[in-house]
Amino acid sequence: MKPAITFMPEGKTVSVRQGTSVLDAARRAGIPIKTRCGGKMGCLMCKVTQLSVGGLSESGEQERRKLAGLAEQGVRLACQAKVIGDASVEVPEDPLKSAVRRLLAKQAEEDDLW
Ligand code: FES
Repeated sequence: MKPAITFMPEGKTVSVRQGTSVLDAARRAGIPIKTRCGGKMGCLMCKVTQLSVGGLSESGEQERRKLAGLAEQGVRLACQAKVIGDASVEVPEDPLKSAVRRLLAKQAEEDDLW
């Protein structure tokens, strides 16, 4: 049985072959993760936070070095982390999308006051 990975906050889940990178799994799920280096650990733009206990390959020394202290907080490079079991990760929201969401939430809150 193929492992499944869930991408939050969208909550999209996709089943992938074991050993698929989180970046490739995200593409299959239609979750945009920006990159510039094409998965060569050069841009550090593909950071995700592992939410599940297990389910992803252990981070290598080079990945941990690139992430510095972030690795201890569960941050992984999507291009390096491989899906080895059921897993879930948090993908940072696009800043513009995040601003719009906050604005809509504030508007809804104000509407409730009336
Ligand atoms: S895609 Fe550039 S570091 Fe992961």
